[in-house]
Amino acid sequence: MNRIGVITSGGDAPGMNAGIRGVVRAALGRGVSVSGFFHGYQGILDNEIVELDSAAVGGVITRGGTILRTARCKPFMLPEGRAKAIDNLKSHGVEGLVVIGGDGSLTGARKLWEEFGFPVVGVPGSIDNDISGTDMSVGFDTAVNAALEAIDRVRDTAYSHERVFVIEVMGRHNGFIALEAGLAGGAEAVIIPEVPYSLLEICDGMRAMHERGKRSSIIIVAEGAARAADIKDFISRNTGFEARYLVLGHMQRGGSPTAFDRVLGVRLGAYAANRLISGFHGEMVGVDGTKLVAHPLSYVLSTERTVDPEKLLLVEVMAK
Ligand code: ADP
Ligand code: F6P
Repeated sequence: MNRIGVITSGGDAPGMNAGIRGVVRAALGRGVSVSGFFHGYQGILDNEIVELDSAAVGGVITRGGTILRTARCKPFMLPEGRAKAIDNLKSHGVEGLVVIGGDGSLTGARKLWEEFGFPVVGVPGSIDNDISGTDMSVGFDTAVNAALEAIDRVRDTAYSHERVFVIEVMGRHNGFIALEAGLAGGAEAVIIPEVPYSLLEICDGMRAMHERGKRSSIIIVAEGAARAADIKDFISRNTGFEARYLVLGHMQRGGSPTAFDRVLGVRLGAYAANRLISGFHGEMVGVDGTKLVAHPLSYVLSTERTVDPEKLLLVEVMAK
């Protein structure tokens, strides 16, 4: 291969820039040029292309977001859109593509490979950490730490005023952020979409805590499980405790990546470029523990990644 392309697509994630840097410098080291496309698949359709030389990725490792920007692209969902993307890639001499993004973006990459035989390698980039085939996705660690900082701050004021705080974190379909930040922040309860919950039981638990002298508590709820405002209303009505709620929203997705996400991004980006150039296609790279691994996208996208139920039990045990 003489030239590969790289995009970031779907929701941005801190550490994507480290991933781009990994792709670019590993490819250049092997004598392969790199084209970046802005705005994910949309940029391929619109020929928004930039030459990524070594200097282009200088100083980006500290930055959250993605220097290539990102987008969600409807036309690419249709076969005609993907056919146009292939034509455009080829017209720029791009012979393979690294896609950094979540499961939607990786599904798009899989289609380029399966429908057109176009060489792709995916890098899991998503704060949700819901992608199979890797223990960690780029961005998750930073998002958890952002949520944790907010939880710690809220705990101070919850303690002082002896209040209940319900904090809503991201996660439309899963509770990875909620569970990890909840455990790390010593939450009294964590509510996630994957596991049925009883608000009455949570209220009972809070009354018991109150009787033992614990006068403040933090409840973490993943956005896909319930709205924090509704939970707060239920708790106030049911227990009479003073309660407040907070929705953390997109602050969880921004900010300078943690050391973990920088190292993960750069390792996975470089590994993806090397696999692509070496002729391993239709894969996603990831980590198994600390070891780099690669799995077929067909496997990654047909396997569900589930939360560890032991962690949820641990939240309950720790709240006692
Ligand atoms: P994420 O990658 O963060 O999961 P999305 O699910 O929004 O984000 O997907 C990002 C983009 O990937 C979509 O806007 C679309 O261009 C492409 N994509 C997602 N799903 C598919 C699909 N089933 N077929 C083709 N392209 C897809
Ligand atoms: O997939 C990442 C994510 O941040 C989810 O946790 C969240 O539900 C969603 O994206 C929000 O999407 P948007 O930025 O389009 O509102």
